[in-house]
Amino acid sequence: MKDGALGIFDSGVGGLTVVRAVQELLPSENIVYLGDTARVPYGSKSPETIRRFADEDARHLLGRDVKAIVVACNTATAHALPFLQKQYHIPVIGVIEAGVEAVLADRTAMRIGIIATRGTIASHAYQHALALRRTGMMIVEQSTPLLVPLIEENWLDHPATTMILQSYLQPMLDKGIDTLLLACTHYPLLVPLLKKMIGADVRIVDSASTCALHLRNELERLDMLASQDRQGILRIGLTDLSDQFEILARQFLHKSPPRIERVEL
Ligand code: DGL
Repeated sequence: MKDGALGIFDSGVGGLTVVRAVQELLPSENIVYLGDTARVPYGSKSPETIRRFADEDARHLLGRDVKAIVVACNTATAHALPFLQKQYHIPVIGVIEAGVEAVLADRTAMRIGIIATRGTIASHAYQHALALRRTGMMIVEQSTPLLVPLIEENWLDHPATTMILQSYLQPMLDKGIDTLLLACTHYPLLVPLLKKMIGADVRIVDSASTCALHLRNELERLDMLASQDRQGILRIGLTDLSDQFEILARQFLHKSPPRIERVEL
């Protein structure tokens, strides 16, 4: 069991930001990644559809004998995590718990801005989880549906991206947020631009690196960390293939991806 692979899935290639963080922190783990590129985006779909897609993604990974599943998609975590955890007998870990823990790790964090897809914002999953654990917080949520297409176009430092971000963020900056939570696995790619725009006073928390930390703690607690000292292998399967996905995969992983195979769900 310990030496089985980790299954990680996302609606597309954004979850590769989580893969990169997991590879950095847990280099011995083998990883099977599934990106549902044929049906991306999930962020604009209904909760029922997201749950159905997430279930099919998880089933596919179970068929690959994974020891645990990471839902590397905020939208799927928001709408399907409890369902998947009930449905399957192996650990299923999402990104929301990790993001919440990372926000709360700073005891002074009281004014939180959250940006995410429409689906994640509509679930209020972050807001509820935060409000349950720390009282008196001001939480401002903003859906930012234009960001995923801009990132997928690689417009990471484009004037149009700056302008759109400005219009999304200004209302929460005006309210004096001290923390900006990037509640979408695509958004870590915008961190350099965000840092330039919002200055050093606002702390940026992203769900990719925090998810890797949360995963390590969970695997340690369950005594499921890979026991061998080896270089873990990454396999990537996508439900639709295009040259653009290869380019994006390199962007998200910060290195050339292994050969990507097309998979049927
Ligand atoms: N991966 C999704 C998330 O983290 C963003 C892309 C989508 O809408 O499917 O919410």
